[in-house]
Amino acid sequence: MQYLRYIGKNLFIEKLSIKNISKKQKTPFYIYSENQIITNFLKFKNTFKKTNPLICFAAKSNSNLNILRVLGRLGAGADVVSGGELLKALKAGIKAKKIVFSGVGKTEEELKIAINKNILLINCESESEAKLVNSLAKKLRKKVSIGFRLNPNVDAKTHKNISTGKAENKFGLSIKSFKIFLKTINSLKNIKLDALSVHIGSQILNDAPFRKTLSVMSKLIKEVRLNLKYVDLGGGFGINYTNKEKPINLNKYSKHVENFSKKLDCKIIFEPGRSIIGNTGLLISKVQFIKKGANKNFIILDAGMNDFMRPALYDAFHQIIPVSKNAAKTKGKIEFVGPICESTCKFGIYKNYQKINENDFIAITNVGAYGSSLSSNYNTRPLIAEILINKNKFRYIRKKQNLLKLINS
Ligand code: LLP
Repeated sequence: MQYLRYIGKNLFIEKLSIKNISKKQKTPFYIYSENQIITNFLKFKNTFKKTNPLICFAAKSNSNLNILRVLGRLGAGADVVSGGELLKALKAGIKAKKIVFSGVGKTEEELKIAINKNILLINCESESEAKLVNSLAKKLRKKVSIGFRLNPNVDAKTHKNISTGKAENKFGLSIKSFKIFLKTINSLKNIKLDALSVHIGSQILNDAPFRKTLSVMSKLIKEVRLNLKYVDLGGGFGINYTNKEKPINLNKYSKHVENFSKKLDCKIIFEPGRSIIGNTGLLISKVQFIKKGANKNFIILDAGMNDFMRPALYDAFHQIIPVSKNAAKTKGKIEFVGPICESTCKFGIYKNYQKINENDFIAITNVGAYGSSLSSNYNTRPLIAEILINKNKFRYIRKKQNLLKLINS
């Protein structure tokens, strides 16, 4: 993150020292750099400038209202997967005509909201869903634009739990079933097939699966002679969580996308989440206790897996860095763990870490995507605060949940 750096021994986010913030603000908390969000969005936009796509930020990656507002002001639309996300995107000022709605199990209630709000596209994932949209639209006397999400059977070569484009995954409709469905779609008078969509997975670091998907889509669209307004190419662009990984290079892919959109004469939609928000956030936590183990020392943090799930859920690696550096070393191995009563409530093992003491602050890095949005009240712990920094301006974008309210709810 370009807005995160050490000045002397202390970690800064934009112009503010995290040590100073941590002394005043109860840990754990999420903290984001607004300028990093802006930089990432504009970089993505610039990469695809020749195609001029609609960039629908995947709200599931971070659905904080103020973060949606920042992105909305930059021209972003939203990719939503629930009625809640849809209403939040609207509340953040994102126009309905910039919202696409994905998901395999949308409810009647959610679909009604989408139809009534006149969103850009409902991306249907099954024949049954398209029929339900048609009958709801009929009752509401509307003609609704839909997209159809396809399952291109492409291996995204990512973690198996975040792969969505293979035949074995529940997402989208197979090409074969889609072709069969096309034969009867004209009988559904209250929907109009304006788009096809795909999303093959998340944290994809190589552009080959994306290029493969383009060619599958291109072949199909030509074969069945669809006249589409939009093709929604989803999200999934990976970031580097370790120094060894390289974020995906989208320059080559952008040329393929440009040709694709010209040939088909359709507007491209993207649904990036992680690549916009992933590296913009930190989770700041305090060392509660240090305990000697048989062959390592446990550094017990006040942040738990309920606050940040990715390591427990996907064995994900997130570098943990000190908020204040020192020159001394800890002997042997240490493991950062959280307080939750689960063995998976742990955040990483390190050797030769700097000397670490109780009450020190640490930062878990790259937690902007699927950090706060995946957090929960497990162990009846309140959701933690979120803070947005812009230069030297500090603002709460979510207050810590009130414990009494949580207990009484
Ligand atoms: N569009 C659709 C239809 C999606 O399902 C997703 C993510 C995205 C866009 C955004 O993908 P992104 O650009 O962020 O990769 N919780 C997991 C990631 C789950 C992704 C689910 N779908 C994690 O923490 O890695």
